[in-house]
Amino acid sequence: MDTLPNSLAARDVKYLLHPNTNARMHEQNGPMVISRGDGIHVYDDAGKEYIEALAGLWSVAVGFGEKRLVEAAHRQMSTLPYYHIFSSKSHEPAIDLAEMLVKMTPEHLTRVFYTNSGSEANDTVVKMIWYYNNVLGRPEKKKIIGRKNGYHGITVASASLTGLPINHKDFDLPLPQMKHVTTPHFYRFGEEGETEEQFSDRLAQEIEDMILAEGPETVAAFIGEPVIGAGGVLVPPKGYWDKVQKVLKKYDILLVADEVIMGFGRSGKTFACEYYGITPDFLVLSKQITSSYQPLAAILLTDAVYQAIADGSQKNGAFGHGYTASGHPVAMAVAIENLKIIEERGLVANAEKVGAYMQKRLREFADHPLVGEVRGVGLIAGVELVTDKATKAKFDPVGKAGAIYTRKSAENGLINRAIGDTICFCPPLIITEAQVDEMIARFSKSLDETAAELKG
Ligand SMILES: Cc1ncc(COP(=O)(O)O)c(C=O)c1O
Repeated sequence: MDTLPNSLAARDVKYLLHPNTNARMHEQNGPMVISRGDGIHVYDDAGKEYIEALAGLWSVAVGFGEKRLVEAAHRQMSTLPYYHIFSSKSHEPAIDLAEMLVKMTPEHLTRVFYTNSGSEANDTVVKMIWYYNNVLGRPEKKKIIGRKNGYHGITVASASLTGLPINHKDFDLPLPQMKHVTTPHFYRFGEEGETEEQFSDRLAQEIEDMILAEGPETVAAFIGEPVIGAGGVLVPPKGYWDKVQKVLKKYDILLVADEVIMGFGRSGKTFACEYYGITPDFLVLSKQITSSYQPLAAILLTDAVYQAIADGSQKNGAFGHGYTASGHPVAMAVAIENLKIIEERGLVANAEKVGAYMQKRLREFADHPLVGEVRGVGLIAGVELVTDKATKAKFDPVGKAGAIYTRKSAENGLINRAIGDTICFCPPLIITEAQVDEMIARFSKSLDETAAELKG
């Protein structure tokens, strides 16, 4: 790291506390400072170019440096830089985007509520579910089931839905209302001799057993990402969502689909709910909604949920929930333009086509001595590294290979994200097949160098 007293690196280490970072290691190693971006590339403060194979944080759908989004923000800032939508106030961008979202999502989702982040959105969903059941006169129906390794954010409620130890440890979480079931990951949790379908049956049975043990009258909802992202890109086993939905229906339990990563084309369909045949009561969207050029999340609700909340607001005097920046006009304007670009440039179809190509190219590494599993759908994938292919043994400590790979890939001009020892791919939706080839070439070199260092 550049240790000159006034260097960006030195000032970063002096003044910042970074999210999701080992602060002590950061003090020693310093930051990777990114200065600008263009298309699928970003450049650091020394001018070095990287392929951003994780689209920032799974989010920059249209790529970096998209002028139309800059202009949309500028136009909106010049006319109405801010207004709120509390107490019946409104503005055109909030209305336009709500209409757009209701029209593009499944027909039974009829209303939109805005927040600034995925965490706030899931926190809001928890509050809506509790409010809904109180209004319906069933105050005991409050528990929410998530999955181990699921990720739903980091506020008190959303971190409680998250099933990752790092987001619970020393935070006094999860809240007691939140329960977690087995991770739907066949490679790790399938049993000897079990088929994927049988694994799904077992997981659905586990959910039913939990509901019965807790008492169905106490269980309000189930939350899941159609494909788990930050837990390591985990694609559900065959039949999983059908079987889970049957159980939820049986006990009148709401389903929350968290498409914060998958929404707006990542799977090759506009929504992964479509891909997996999921009919959610809440659909949570963020990230690619603005390509992360502005902070924004949206919750889509059914009419049944809306009616109960509307009744509650009448009884209580207002729906006592909302954020200063709920429906921020600049975020709305950027989202509208971003969704137009996704539509006009056929980026969902591109995700399907180039995604299939990326999946094929990554599966060429299945025989690599370090690779345990290659998994993914559309333009999202994970390559899990193991010490022994036959026993699937993990590295000790977990993350050892991932850390080496992260260093090597940065040297080779590639940014992925290593979750433990799973190397994640989630490039901008604009990526071409030729760019996938370049990304794979850099990956291949980095993987071989990781293997050499581990041996060495
Ligand atoms: C599926 C999912 N839900 C929720 C969140 C939380 O979103 P945010 O970081 O905007 O709070 C994330 C973030 O990565 C996510 O991947």
